[in-house]
Amino acid sequence: MKNAISIQGHNSIQKMLDLHNHILPGIDDGAADFDESVRMAKIMVAEGFRAVVATPHYGRAGFYSEHATVRRLVRELKVELCRQQINLVVYPGMEVLLSPEIPELLRNRKVFTLNDSPYILIEFPQMGLPAGLDNFISQLLSDGKKLIIAHPEKNHEIQRRLDHFVDLVNSFRLGDILIQITADSLTNKAGHKAFLAAKFLLRTGLAHIISTDAHSCSERPPNIREALTIAMAIAGRERTMKMVRDWPETIVSGGEVIPERPDIKVLRQSLTEFSCSFRKCV
Ligand SMILES: [Fe+2]
Repeated sequence: MKNAISIQGHNSIQKMLDLHNHILPGIDDGAADFDESVRMAKIMVAEGFRAVVATPHYGRAGFYSEHATVRRLVRELKVELCRQQINLVVYPGMEVLLSPEIPELLRNRKVFTLNDSPYILIEFPQMGLPAGLDNFISQLLSDGKKLIIAHPEKNHEIQRRLDHFVDLVNSFRLGDILIQITADSLTNKAGHKAFLAAKFLLRTGLAHIISTDAHSCSERPPNIREALTIAMAIAGRERTMKMVRDWPETIVSGGEVIPERPDIKVLRQSLTEFSCSFRKCV
């Protein structure tokens, strides 16, 4: 790739933290059993991860991970990783499908935030976006929560109406909504439209987190190196490391991520370029 930056041999890519990962065994469509969880953990350590937030589904495809089960599996996985001397820290979390019940589910402790921080990882439906999304977000924010939107680049309506999505995000206070893109979108393994949208979000500074969203050792493994090379070529090393290490650390420790405001000129130009490329692949 033109302008690609080699990441081999750099200590800075150690100590990354994966904020979105289905490493827990047998709870959703992620790791099948503890053996696979451990093998995923080994891959992650080799990739340079220090830690992972386990984020099983709540609401997606009939998976409603139970709070107590998530906590128990995290404890058991930590014990097993310790026993096998695998140095990967595991934090509890969830990936919650967008629904109007989320504020109540949070109050009833049916769903919870990433490592009990203010940040909740929310997944949008793949096809469309519901009406009143801005009111829903406002309500969550007024309850003291902050949103991390999981892989919006894969949502078909966001791809079609990226300018509306940008307006929605920009209508809230900077840092109240963070955007997580997925490594396989950047490496063009999740479809060309997701690839274009992920690159747009990265180039404009609207993407704040890069995660693996790994589900297994084979089909969606927790690899990130190829995506890092692409991200560094687009956004530079410093900002890429913020997205895979510094800001994820801030989030799991309950701090506040305050990103830079996107440059309006870059935003407009990138939107035009995205629209042209998107029309060609429709
Ligand atoms: Fe996920």
